[in-house]
Amino acid sequence: MALLEVENLSIDLGDFHLRDVSLSVEENDYLTVIGPTGAGKSVLLEAIAGFYPLLSGRVILEGRDITNEPPERRGISIVYQDYMLFPHMSVFDNIAFGLRKKGLPRGEIEREVRSIAEELHIGHILHRKPGTLSGGEQQRVALARALIVGPKVLLMDEPFSALDSKTREKLRSLVKSVIEEHGTTVIHVTHDFEDVFALAKHVAVMRDGRIVQFGTPEEVFSRPGDEFIASFVGTNLLRGRVEGLHDGLTAVRVGDVILYTADEAEGEATLSLRPEEIILAREPGECSAQNVVPVEIVEMERRGQLVWLSLVSDGLSLRAVVTPNAVELLKIRPGERFYALFKASALRVVK
Ligand SMILES: Nc1ncnc2c1ncn2[C@@H]1O[C@H](COP(=O)(O)OP(=O)(O)OP(=O)(O)O)[C@@H](O)[C@H]1O
Ligand SMILES: [Mg+2]
Repeated sequence: MALLEVENLSIDLGDFHLRDVSLSVEENDYLTVIGPTGAGKSVLLEAIAGFYPLLSGRVILEGRDITNEPPERRGISIVYQDYMLFPHMSVFDNIAFGLRKKGLPRGEIEREVRSIAEELHIGHILHRKPGTLSGGEQQRVALARALIVGPKVLLMDEPFSALDSKTREKLRSLVKSVIEEHGTTVIHVTHDFEDVFALAKHVAVMRDGRIVQFGTPEEVFSRPGDEFIASFVGTNLLRGRVEGLHDGLTAVRVGDVILYTADEAEGEATLSLRPEEIILAREPGECSAQNVVPVEIVEMERRGQLVWLSLVSDGLSLRAVVTPNAVELLKIRPGERFYALFKASALRVVK
């Protein structure tokens, strides 16, 4: 049996409804929840934590029905984007809070606080007040406070989103090692796909108060369940018609182009292709990719460390992503013609 079972959870919050959400989280799982703003990701976390009255449904933890347990008795800790530390208490007292409530002896509390503080590299700031700390330090304190009580499930709502990108990266890898060390089961809401790729074992995609896809990161990002999910995770979705088999590959006509997939399909087929699987070349046949599509660059957009490209071919458009370095080397410019190369194994049949 799974560690945490969320069964047919429904909640009414004025205009917003969480509808019939079910989830199953194994022990040691790391589940990330993604979805557009307003989808209900935070409401779902807070419902699991016990902050909302349910319209219907149950929450089962370790086989025990905790649907009617108050938040503090659930064995579930929550970490927020904006830390939510007690401003008038020292870092030590913030971290010690949960153990004091449990009535642990003073010496034991002292030892536990020092030990978790060491792990999270905040042993040197235990005497300070939260207001004097950097965002990254505050979030490590919040994590220490959440983990010290040994929660069965740790919930995190965009824990890194208030941090600059360097701090975020450092904290992400620290969280990864601390979570693994403690064997903590995590549900982590995020807008940052880096979190998914670096941390997640499973991903749930939410939309309009529902979970619309659940799977491994590989499944969700390579085989998004519908067009909405494909566009949300940034995958190309192509609609075509199967023409037959060719050297063990399935040939699919998309627009005026024949593409090859290693998957089986018949009739109408929807295919997905990750933008990062596309290689651009001036000449066809420079690599072993089975798909070679002549394209024109129609748009370029620099975002962070990467450049996003819109490509068109006969009756087919694609999004691809390249490094600024590649843009220089290959002289990629709007209006220029290239070949988009990708492997048959990168083109996946969605349905
Ligand atoms: N206490 C509340 N009362 C009424 N409506 C609420 C309440 N809390 C949240 N909502 C509404 O529920 C919807 C879902 O909110 P939620 O905060 O879960 O979205 P989210 O997926 O976490 O979005 P974001 O990515 O922006 O954090 C929103 O439309 C929000 O306004
Ligand atoms: Mg939210």
